[in-house]
Amino acid sequence: MPLIAPSLLFADFLHLERDCKMLNESDADWFHLDVMDGRFVPNISFGPMVVDFIRKTTKKVCDVHLMIVEPEKYTEAFKNAGADHVSVHIEACPHLHRNIQQIKSLGMKAGVAINPHTPISELKEIIRDIEQVIVMSVNPGFGGQKFIPHTIEKIRQLRKLITESGSKALIEIDGGVTVDNASEIVNAGADVLVAGNAVFKSSDPEESIKKLKQSGQSVA
Ligand code: DX5
Ligand code: ZN
Repeated sequence: MPLIAPSLLFADFLHLERDCKMLNESDADWFHLDVMDGRFVPNISFGPMVVDFIRKTTKKVCDVHLMIVEPEKYTEAFKNAGADHVSVHIEACPHLHRNIQQIKSLGMKAGVAINPHTPISELKEIIRDIEQVIVMSVNPGFGGQKFIPHTIEKIRQLRKLITESGSKALIEIDGGVTVDNASEIVNAGADVLVAGNAVFKSSDPEESIKKLKQSGQSVA
């Protein structure tokens, strides 16, 4: 079964504690926390201060997705806020290996996120050093976008690269995941499904999380 990582971007920030409680009681595995800087992506979300508040509400994994330039300036602040995983974008990091070492030296799991136009082959020299890859299935910056179908092929390529290299990295898919397309994504080789809209805009978020969790089982 895939791990489910609801994105808090769509939580009701006036009732954040209530939404975190709902996730705690649901089948969700991770809290996916989307940090945007208005430079790497054309939107601004929240920073370490909000992650710190969310951390206080949950024992589940806090999976921080940094859509920011110069992430090295903030990695320690996210560690102090309680992040368990930190992922940085390959497109924002000319010294990616150094970023990964920094995240790991602070005792967190390290991930690399790649935009829809970035080929899987770019991960070849870093794949053994990381715990997860976030394959963006929309252009980052906004929730509620449509899944880019070509991502399915990228998931297959990444699964092959991971197997051949002996890496233990998890494949996390982020953007446009729904109850309807989750099975295809899991069957292509995904380990973790991020879902914003599909959870928080649903009439029954807990039920939607349950359905996402059961996705890989429906198709052989
Ligand atoms: C996009 C973010 C995603 C996104 C998920 O920049 O990284 O995590 O908000 O939301 P949905 O599932 O609605 O695409
Ligand atoms: Zn994300």
